[in-house]
Amino acid sequence: QSPQVDPAKLAAAKAAVALVEDGMRLGLGTGSTASVMVRELAARVQAEGLSLRCAATSRATAELAESLGLRIESLDDIGWLDMTIDGADEVDPDLHLIKGGGAAHLREKIVAAASDRMVVIADPGKVVETLGAFPLPVEVLEFGFETTRKLIRRALEGLELGDHDILQRLKGSDPVVTDEGNLILDLHLEVIPDPSALARALSCIPGVVEHGLFLGMCDLAIIGREDGSVIELA
Ligand code: A5P
Repeated sequence: QSPQVDPAKLAAAKAAVALVEDGMRLGLGTGSTASVMVRELAARVQAEGLSLRCAATSRATAELAESLGLRIESLDDIGWLDMTIDGADEVDPDLHLIKGGGAAHLREKIVAAASDRMVVIADPGKVVETLGAFPLPVEVLEFGFETTRKLIRRALEGLELGDHDILQRLKGSDPVVTDEGNLILDLHLEVIPDPSALARALSCIPGVVEHGLFLGMCDLAIIGREDGSVIELA
């Protein structure tokens, strides 16, 4: 690990990697916390000679994992996973999540849905009472992009969440393009009183490829702390 690694992220990553057993089929998440986990995992594989089958949730994670000597296979080749370890942008007391701060939530959701167990690793700043302070990422098709934005606005109005920014995610002045070639809208909602209703409404909009609400998917959240200890939420 590099010396600047966040001790809370490292603690969570180590605790999650400790759950890995020889022969497991694993999903590897995306983001800064997941990257710490991939490094820890690679170190364990090297030290213990574990035999694992791994699928990645993004090109970035696949590249990192392979650079550390982990072999990445396609999700379809592996077929089903025992466990996925991933980060999150927000975790609420019901283990509902907001994900997609790294624009990878589409692949992350597919991989998590194909896993017996989803383990989330995070620092304490990600734990919230109510989801929504983190802008909700929504991956949308480029075709009809502005129309999709209007349809999202209309859906939000129907849920009395109308008067909020729906901003295209940019990197510098260029649109962020996901691994699947789509665009991202960030919904600045502040509070999401009914995540299930919002998830249903967004999923009904044709140009929406996937939203960053992960409801009922996380089985265990490991929250690392600065002192190296962890809290487990299940
Ligand atoms: C990637 O799209 C996200 O879902 C990440 O898992 C999430 O943004 C957490 O990333 P960090 O660990 O970098 O905060």
